[in-house]
Amino acid sequence: MIQTEQFLKEETWRYFWHPVCTLKELRDANTDGRGNRKFVQLLGEELVVAETSNGVIALNDRCPHRSASLSLGWVEDDCIRCAYHGWKYNSDGQCVEIPAAPDLPIPPNALTKKYDVQVMYNLVWVRLEQGVDIPIPDFPDYDDPEMKLVYYPTYEWKTSAARRLENFVDLQHFAWVHDGTLGDRNFPEYPVPQVDQSQGQLRWLYRPYENTRTEGANQNVVERSEYVITMPFNVQLSIYSTNSNRTGLWMISSPMDSGNCRNFTYISRNHFDDEDQVHIDFDTKVYQEDLPVIESQKPREIPNPTQEISIPQDKVLIFYRRWLKEMSNASEKGHEELQVAWSKERCETKAANNDKNVN
Ligand code: FES
Ligand code: FE
Repeated sequence: MIQTEQFLKEETWRYFWHPVCTLKELRDANTDGRGNRKFVQLLGEELVVAETSNGVIALNDRCPHRSASLSLGWVEDDCIRCAYHGWKYNSDGQCVEIPAAPDLPIPPNALTKKYDVQVMYNLVWVRLEQGVDIPIPDFPDYDDPEMKLVYYPTYEWKTSAARRLENFVDLQHFAWVHDGTLGDRNFPEYPVPQVDQSQGQLRWLYRPYENTRTEGANQNVVERSEYVITMPFNVQLSIYSTNSNRTGLWMISSPMDSGNCRNFTYISRNHFDDEDQVHIDFDTKVYQEDLPVIESQKPREIPNPTQEISIPQDKVLIFYRRWLKEMSNASEKGHEELQVAWSKERCETKAANNDKNVN
């Protein structure tokens, strides 16, 4: 193992909203008639999410009586009933019933931690820690009537959320990992883009060279691709083709723990003359090409910069890592510092953009 210390403090991401499952996954978990409840993992925490008549709730999955998993239980009267001895917990995580001793006062510490939950874009989002006001990433295509949406099935990779995101925005690997799908091994060069950074977002534009200009499932000729990373783990890619077609990919990687992630993706497009499945199949092919390489990266977390070598073409990833590190350092100082580090305006001068020593 190369890494000796944690470069990024994982606790930093507890202040952000992360998707843990889709609403459909939560409802599909009700195969045994025990209600819509599902076991999920976020940043090393084990949670049960459940749908009650008052909305979706998220509680720590451990029953404080004898530590059984609450997600093995069921939803009853908008509460969760533990499967082991039947203790019942309300949506605040407070135990409200102990069937073996109905006349006994309920011990005040018979409660399990409750977490903030929101449902947005048909995803269930959880925030483990309060104190910083950073919204769920924007997804403009979701409400755009000109765009057709397809949800790509959720998948888990054995890597960190940051490594997964880096792979998504890394263009140099197209010619090698995706020769014939996204790139061409005969044309391995890639330009260094101008990168804008503000309000939690990293943005850049990519105009492919003449010979690498085909796009995705339809093999349209690409005019430009716009990338927007919303820190820390969301990316929106918009691919504009010369025939006015636009295809979007909105991907968010959710950190299950420091070395595993769940990934949520929407494909959007303004052209409806092809089947959804064509796009799903194409992305599956691309991800299968990526998977063995990405899961081979060691360590799974982003390491200290001295442990990997960067070139100017790695600029986007260098900027991304720097920003992650700034947030990580800020979160150790306090909530306000983390808020400022996330939203900070950064101006990239031309000189800095051409700086070969970007590392
Ligand atoms: Fe949950 Fe006993 S372990 S009720
Ligand atoms: Fe790839």
